[in-house]
Amino acid sequence: MIRTENGIFLLETENTSYIFRIDEKGHAEHISYTGRIFPSSEDIAAIAGPRDIKIGDGTYADEENPAYLPSNILYEYSAPGKGDTRESALIAEYGNGLITLDLVYRSHRIYKGKDLTDSPYALSSDHTETLELKLSDTIEPIEVTLFYTVYPEEDVILRSAEVRNSMDEPLVIRTVSSMQLDTDDDLWDLISFDGAWARERHENRRRIIGTEHIASRIGFTSSEHSSLFFVARPDADDSSGTVMGFNMIYSGNHLERIEKSPFSKCRILSSINPAGSAWVLEDGESFRTPEAIMTLSDEGLDGVSWNFHRFLSRYISRGCWQEKERPILLNSWEAAYFDITEDKLLRFAEKAAEAGIELFVMDDGWFGRRTDDTRGLGDWFENRDRLPDGIEGLSAKIHALGLKFGLWVEPEMISIDSALYENHPEWVIRIPGRTPSPGRHQYILDMSREDVIDYLFDSLSKVFSKNVDYVKWDANRNMSDYYSSNPELRHQGELFHRYIQGLYRLMSKLKAAFPEILFEFCASGGNRFDPGMLSFMNQGWTSDNTDIRSRIDIQQGTLRGFPPSAICCHVSASPNHQSLRKSGLDDRFGPAAFGVLGYELNILKMNENEMDAIKNQISFYKAHRRTFQFGRFRHLPSFDKDCIFWSIEGDDEIIVMEYQDRNGVNIGRHHRLIIPFADENKSYRIERREKYISPEDLGELGESYSKVQHKPFSITVSGSVLKKAGIALPNTFMGRGFDENTRLMLDNSSDLFVITPID
Ligand code: DGJ
Repeated sequence: MIRTENGIFLLETENTSYIFRIDEKGHAEHISYTGRIFPSSEDIAAIAGPRDIKIGDGTYADEENPAYLPSNILYEYSAPGKGDTRESALIAEYGNGLITLDLVYRSHRIYKGKDLTDSPYALSSDHTETLELKLSDTIEPIEVTLFYTVYPEEDVILRSAEVRNSMDEPLVIRTVSSMQLDTDDDLWDLISFDGAWARERHENRRRIIGTEHIASRIGFTSSEHSSLFFVARPDADDSSGTVMGFNMIYSGNHLERIEKSPFSKCRILSSINPAGSAWVLEDGESFRTPEAIMTLSDEGLDGVSWNFHRFLSRYISRGCWQEKERPILLNSWEAAYFDITEDKLLRFAEKAAEAGIELFVMDDGWFGRRTDDTRGLGDWFENRDRLPDGIEGLSAKIHALGLKFGLWVEPEMISIDSALYENHPEWVIRIPGRTPSPGRHQYILDMSREDVIDYLFDSLSKVFSKNVDYVKWDANRNMSDYYSSNPELRHQGELFHRYIQGLYRLMSKLKAAFPEILFEFCASGGNRFDPGMLSFMNQGWTSDNTDIRSRIDIQQGTLRGFPPSAICCHVSASPNHQSLRKSGLDDRFGPAAFGVLGYELNILKMNENEMDAIKNQISFYKAHRRTFQFGRFRHLPSFDKDCIFWSIEGDDEIIVMEYQDRNGVNIGRHHRLIIPFADENKSYRIERREKYISPEDLGELGESYSKVQHKPFSITVSGSVLKKAGIALPNTFMGRGFDENTRLMLDNSSDLFVITPID
């Protein structure tokens, strides 16, 4: 709900309150963002406090207001030049390079729902309400409208800004932020999600002590630095303490600035990255930023994650797959790489169908001259040597096996060795007179050009209309050689954003033409994993790294801001193709089940026991799929530094995964399972999922294998016990004295428990 009285604005969600006011200078001044409060106007004055602090050599507003120091005011949206020397939300050049702006309140309006329907945008519902706050410069006809849309149930406030130029000269936007949040103190930790290819979204936490920039300059959101970040009280942990979470609904270069001011305040800004970017507004034109998601929870990091999960599932992910359970797939990539033929693919598919897999995906290598990664990109028609009956024929044969059929594309890219390049060399992003830099032997198409979008729409539509049920949309290099031959660009600094807008246009058209296809976004694994892509495609390829140990970090980081239904996880071969680490088949299944399950291995090489194990995994996953894909994810406490516990709560069950990093020898104590959110008025049955361990993984111990871990583990305890004392799990193998109760947990192993409440 949004309320306003006497220049005070109160934005309320079920569990949070966001307050600002129009101050004595006409600025929109932030007051507080906290857990839900019910303040009177006196309370609000008390929260803000008197304006009596004079700063040493600070610039103040005017002689009448010596304590009004712009660099010490909490603004809703900032601009440079009138004394606020912190990072600015907006830097726009007018005249001959002037940047000073003094943004003051002009008007506001509050309405149900929200206005933005230009892709990508968050959906709205009967519960959503929007505040539009119009500010403009005191002198120049430059206007900024701030948008706040409140989602009460998810505790989310969606932010964006629009800049309008009404001067009779151009305005060049250098920096424009989707959101700004100024906090009244600076005791916060910053948590960012960083990495690289095969190391995506690793969580990094540190105290905010200066100015931090989280940025992508690669043209996409990037696996280097996600636009997702948290700002948390230092005492906040997974389940308690105040944490704020932010992300942008955007897939291009982004910049998050988190600045501790000299006067013990903190400024938080999310923007399109201004590096190499410029946007020219002529008289009467405006620029609207992407939307930014802002949320707060007093229930720790998992509380914020749950807000993100619900918000992204309900208002970002959309279409007929939004709430539908996602199929279990087998992908051909690591099974065959480029070496595919129809015959081989069909053999994979037959075995997949036997195991209970539901969707077969033909990855790279099926089109044009694409027999390796040096050629073929751009030619979206089948290679008849490999697929003699074309896509249609293969699709029909896969469907006849009872499987859905999917394929891989990489639409934004072009190989020099391709028919497309022979016809349209001018479509490549490159600077005239300079040799462009390759990435994976390929180049990027200029997605700002309408003719490129038209070509891709036509050629992809032809493929997608051949009974395709699923599409994996890849993008395998970063942008370089920034130059567009598109005459519509007024400034080359528009390329980054216009590229992303072109991509969104293409995806919108394809989604409208093929509403039933399940799309999965991918970019060298998880190089473009963001809410912008999720608003077009219901799920994403998280990482090329499917090693169990690596996946714990990658999925844990990704789960901080994305729901399990968006996170695709594959069981792959051992040794793993990225880490060369060996792990057990059922151990790998543990983390892979916490998301959308798939397989990416040569299923023809599986022996009978392994096939049985895969079949069991699949039937287990199917029985609990709704929980795994749409349940509430939480971390559980662990009292062993080598173990972590993940839980996912569905309508009538909780599934827990215990992951063990290293097996302790002669430790002499049990691992303890404790569920702090268990209901004290209930009892719970706890059952361990029976696990397959290959005798080969145990070497000489394989002989004694038959004596170990054969007794099913199933007990019932009261909710208060599970919540507070926890239960001792059966001992893991520790070097001595094992019997049929012992759990064999190797290094990098996992175990699953199904916990059912009993009234
Ligand atoms: C990168 C993706 O992340 C992989 O899964 C695979 O599709 C390859 N591209 C194919 O070239």
